[in-house]
Amino acid sequence: MKRTHHCNELRSEHIGQTVTLTGWVHSKRDLGGVNFIDIRDREGRTQTVFDPQDVPQAICDVAAGLHSESVIEVTGKVRQRPAGTNNDKIPTGQVEVLATELTVLNQAAVLPFVIDDPEVAAKVNEEMRLKYRYLDLRRPEMLRNMRLRSKVAIATRSYMDEQGFLEIETPTLFKSTPEGAREFLVPNRREPGTFYALPQSPQQFKQILMVAGVEKYFQLARCYRDEDLRADRQPEFTQVDIEMSFIEREDIYALIEGLLKRVWKAALDMDIPTPFKRLTFEEALNRFGIDKPDTRFGFELVDMTEDFKGSSFKVFSGAVASGGVVKAMNAKGLACVTQGQMETMTDYAKSFGAKGLAYIKVESGEWKSPIVKFFSDAEKEALKTKLQIEEGDLILFAADQWLTACEILGKIRLYIAEVLQKTGKLTIDPKRFDFLWVVDFPLLSFDKEQNRWYSSHHPFTSPVAEDIPKLVSEPKAVRGQHYDIVVNGVELGGGSIRIHQPDVQKTVFEQVLQIPPEETQSRFGYMLEAFKYGAPPHGGIALGFDRMIATLCGTPSIRDVIAFPKTAKGTDLMTDAPSVATARQLKDLRLEVKAAPPKDQS
Ligand code: AMO
Ligand code: AMP
Repeated sequence: MKRTHHCNELRSEHIGQTVTLTGWVHSKRDLGGVNFIDIRDREGRTQTVFDPQDVPQAICDVAAGLHSESVIEVTGKVRQRPAGTNNDKIPTGQVEVLATELTVLNQAAVLPFVIDDPEVAAKVNEEMRLKYRYLDLRRPEMLRNMRLRSKVAIATRSYMDEQGFLEIETPTLFKSTPEGAREFLVPNRREPGTFYALPQSPQQFKQILMVAGVEKYFQLARCYRDEDLRADRQPEFTQVDIEMSFIEREDIYALIEGLLKRVWKAALDMDIPTPFKRLTFEEALNRFGIDKPDTRFGFELVDMTEDFKGSSFKVFSGAVASGGVVKAMNAKGLACVTQGQMETMTDYAKSFGAKGLAYIKVESGEWKSPIVKFFSDAEKEALKTKLQIEEGDLILFAADQWLTACEILGKIRLYIAEVLQKTGKLTIDPKRFDFLWVVDFPLLSFDKEQNRWYSSHHPFTSPVAEDIPKLVSEPKAVRGQHYDIVVNGVELGGGSIRIHQPDVQKTVFEQVLQIPPEETQSRFGYMLEAFKYGAPPHGGIALGFDRMIATLCGTPSIRDVIAFPKTAKGTDLMTDAPSVATARQLKDLRLEVKAAPPKDQS
């Protein structure tokens, strides 16, 4: 190594030693011809001093000409800082290095943005940060995220190893999988016209590994999905992917609770209580209007169906008459919303399919609302008791089919919490983590547009054993053995006990999901075949690794915990990927591109 110490190492006990430090010019101050340069490396920073009384003027001149973020090597003697000049903010603040030698390893050009001032750096727009990601990653917050990610990966591996799991890699060049998202295709030069697909997850391989007798598999697996990107979605992301044989749901719950306990301890030195709460899918929707509830705040949904089924307010009684429900929510203390804000909220609800957003504002002892005049005394009394209505409250309603009504108010609930947090009326302890399992999902959901059933999780999920006979006759009633792990309203992971009998799997593909037999054979024939030769009962789960790290780092965007993420448009601004292929490449692949690429690819 060129250096004798890193930049966060020198203390009073090193005084008098000659040391060599290497790193970046973090900051530079010229005090009457004496240059003070803070040199920074991954670990921290140390002040170095270039004083013409102690070193040749030529060296001082080089020091004076250094640009921010240049890479240097400094040799000198450690000394006590003069009285009154200690910097208590940094661990090396008691000492400084009086330079005797200086080597410029790389003089930096003028930076596209400031990185040494955290407040300024935090305001740099994300496009710049992504284009110059190597500069962005030098910022302490980003470095902390990368460190934490590494720590969690290592803690995960050691926990899984202790639990007897084998880490096994599975292919990235794969074939089409049916997990819902669109896939990335890779053309095959050897047989033009054929394509690999990048895996959405290692789902089929991990199940085949169970047939292969591995019993306990895990992998930090890279997955690829060509879907609309958001703060919590990237086209390539990482899963802690797990599969086990001869188990039941409880085994997965215990394993994952142990893993998350280990991870939270390693990353944040926190002891999280286990076991986690469990909510059924139905209860999650009934109370929170979503299958990944954030239970850190109230505003729970309340069912008012029974109370309003005979109401003279036809919007409500009509919804009940056509098989729907009336759900209400008390947005405590929000009666002060303006008419404009109420309209914004109504439009927001409508964008999710709401027919309207009836409301009551409780102000000056009065219920202000265009609809209260239709309510009977009994209806008002029921609202008062069930919603615990008080002065200053805002009551919101959704009357619709059960799922729609729940989902509308669920979205409004989150919206309100966000607004309240922004205005400081709701504070959530950043160290609070509400973990919970969502269980008892229906195996199938119905797609009205396509008039067919599809898997709520994926088609390999096992029905609850006693519901298997209902698969074809009564698909709606079939319960799935699927579970999701949720923290603070984020779906951290999901998994299931799988089907291991080839006949049941074939029924699901062909008779329930209506995949034609030839297609079943070409896409899943190898799995059905494998299941014929001794498939153990098995199940597993995958945790979104990026989401887990983002939760630990307290950032809403997984881009902040991925070294080189893509933008919302799926581009890498640093390398300019994706880019056009050369004519030669296309010729080799026997592909022809018909659409001209857009000029601005960012
Ligand atoms: P699922 O599709 O639910 O299950 O994915 C598991 C977890 O992966 C994370 N995740 C993502 N993270 C970032 N960007 C994305 N685009 C993205 N998509 C998903 C989420 C999610 O909970 N094979 C099954 C698992 C199993 O059954 O064992 C699967 O992939 O945190
Ligand atoms: P209307 O009778 O259509 O003028 O609606 C009266 C009030 O009820 C308005 O505030 C609407 O936004 C609201 N509303 C209409 N339909 C529904 C519905 N299905 N659920 C909840 N509120 C509704």
